[in-house]
Amino acid sequence: MEHTNHRRRRGLRLPRQASPVVSTTSTTTTLLLLVICLAALTRTPAAAEALRKRGADEGDTGGGGGSGCDNKAGGKQPSPVWVFGDSYADTGNLGDLGRELTRAWYDPYGVTFPGRPTGRFSDGRVLTDFIASAMGVPTPVAYKLRRGAARGLMARGMNFAVGGAGVLDTGNFQRNIGAQIDLFQAHHPPPTRGCDAGVAVVVVSGNDYSYAADKDNSTSAAIAYIPAVVRQLREQLRRLRDEVGMRKVVVTNLHPMGCTPLFTRALNYTACDPLANAGAAQHNAALQSVLAALDPANRTFLLLDLSTPFTAFVVEDAPERFPEPRRPCCESFSGDGHCGQQDDGGRRQYTLCDDPSKHFYWDDVHPTQAAWAAVARTFRPKIHEFLLST
Ligand SMILES: *[C@@H]1O[C@H](CO)[C@@H](O)[C@H](O)[C@H]1NC(C)=O
Ligand SMILES: *[C@@H]1O[C@H](CO)[C@@H](O)[C@H](O)[C@H]1NC(C)=O
Ligand SMILES: *[C@@H]1O[C@H](CO)[C@@H](O)[C@H](O)[C@H]1NC(C)=O
Repeated sequence: MEHTNHRRRRGLRLPRQASPVVSTTSTTTTLLLLVICLAALTRTPAAAEALRKRGADEGDTGGGGGSGCDNKAGGKQPSPVWVFGDSYADTGNLGDLGRELTRAWYDPYGVTFPGRPTGRFSDGRVLTDFIASAMGVPTPVAYKLRRGAARGLMARGMNFAVGGAGVLDTGNFQRNIGAQIDLFQAHHPPPTRGCDAGVAVVVVSGNDYSYAADKDNSTSAAIAYIPAVVRQLREQLRRLRDEVGMRKVVVTNLHPMGCTPLFTRALNYTACDPLANAGAAQHNAALQSVLAALDPANRTFLLLDLSTPFTAFVVEDAPERFPEPRRPCCESFSGDGHCGQQDDGGRRQYTLCDDPSKHFYWDDVHPTQAAWAAVARTFRPKIHEFLLST
């Protein structure tokens, strides 16, 4: 029997008629076209260099230092890091469209770090912060916040990940992974001979499957969607290596989705949804074969295994670390509500735990900073070793 009544990914979904999103999208399209035209006019390296130096340009991300050569010449400078993905990686790219749609810009998000909401879907740091730290680089600037950022920082990477995104379109009006890579390419000339574009991080946490499950009201529809999603993910990974020129690409696998509070709430947080977990495992097996075929020697791609540490905490239980791993810290009164929700009088429609560091999940789908820190301890050495390999 299928559990079908509690799988909306609240907090990631935007309504289809949200006009601010539409107008943002068309502005961005115009901007993108402009950037593409500029790129077409400047084919010579000298002209491209001149363009890169013109910092006032609207479309310029200042990422000209993105070619790996500057870094190699400098000796020990780490490669720039470019992040693509969804709300597990977003550090401010989802615009503030109000408490209802974009709760990551409202309290109590950000209460642990930095003490106020910053567009991160957690009480504090998210996966991007921990991956960057493992790589020895500062957290890459969110694309949307680039105008306020120091130019030196922007040469060290950028985060294009946005909450709600998928490998394919998820009905959220957010750039999918392919469109995020398009955006990177629009801002960065291809690396010249003997150089590389840096390191890419690809974070895919299951919005494609939530979308498919919502649309057809069944987890089995989501499972039937796996081959299409993995095929498209394969194409984007191949593109990052062969067309974009990334030296290294880190890609996450799926956590056991059936253990997120979105599913466990209906079971009083005692158990996980087995079908959703089976789907995640099937996605992971398919992704592993894709990487084995694309890169048999494991030279370019690293599968960043989130499934194993998440499973250890939320399926098998580690009560001394996270006593109630399937119950969120921030819990809406209603199953249809969301963390941060208020009524018309501004009264909280959620409860907040005393100590987020004792909870694995912050809200109905997103881990706490403490959870990400615990997960990151398992991948730090692997990332380190992978980046050093040639
Ligand atoms: C979804 O499916 C469940 C049973 O599988 C059913 O009870 C529910 O009414 C369905 N919802 C919609 C919107 O079709
Ligand atoms: C849910 O679990 C709590 C303890 O964690 C318990 O007190 C409560 O009675 C349970 N509710 C149901 C409906 O089983
Ligand atoms: C590549 O990594 C996979 C695990 O992700 C492993 O099973 C395989 O043996 C590795 N191949 C080589 C040549 O090291």
